[in-house]
Amino acid sequence: MRQPLVVGNWKMHGSRDEAAKLVGGLIQKLGGCQAEIVLCPPFVFLADVADLLSKSSVGLGSQDVATQVQGAFTGEVAAEMVADIGCRYVIVGHSERRTLFGESDALVAEKVAATLRAGLVPIVCVGETAQQRDAGITEEVIAGQLNTVFERLGGADEFVQSRAVVAYEPVWAIGTGVTAEPQQVVQVHQFIRGLLGKLGAASRVLYGGSVKPENAAELFELEDVDGGLIGGASLDIDSFSAICAAAD
Ligand code: 13P
Repeated sequence: MRQPLVVGNWKMHGSRDEAAKLVGGLIQKLGGCQAEIVLCPPFVFLADVADLLSKSSVGLGSQDVATQVQGAFTGEVAAEMVADIGCRYVIVGHSERRTLFGESDALVAEKVAATLRAGLVPIVCVGETAQQRDAGITEEVIAGQLNTVFERLGGADEFVQSRAVVAYEPVWAIGTGVTAEPQQVVQVHQFIRGLLGKLGAASRVLYGGSVKPENAAELFELEDVDGGLIGGASLDIDSFSAICAAAD
């Protein structure tokens, strides 16, 4: 039985004060939640949020990591550093990192390996652009993204056994208000489950892209959907807590 997981990706939003208010409000509302909840604030707020979450069951994650352990890499943050702060998860290969910052499948695979090296759980984001979907190559794109990670780790079984999470985020559904249709979500999640191989039933596969309180329950009920990766709606106490409740 896979425990549902809901992850809030704050992206580059908020101030220190707003972060504290958001976490304080969420802790009050998420008390009885059965799903696993994880917050991923910007790096600079991780230590504050770790303190605020220390007596709650809500977990902490970072939005990215470097591949290196330490050294002369100005501006980078190692997986070991975010582990030291109290993170349990790392979002790796988000489409904004792939498209805006040029992260290749190979770099994403290195970041997954770095995350595991530090004892953390990677949330590996995959997904197609609108053009790729229109061209009929959605499955090819996702297979390429995931297989590069599997190869780096030694195979799909190693990926599953590491407890890594997959997040399917169609690029055209991120921040657009357009959510993928249920049958599109089911189709891709089943495809991902197939790629995960014989042990794949153990892995959690999340959906992300314009998840809101209004559509969360319908999405989370779908076969092979084990929760969500939430952007915009994770910045609002009522919206995010309603989405978490929908995953119960
Ligand atoms: P939105 O929920 O704002 O569409 O963002 C999804 C996302 O990118 C989460 O990582």
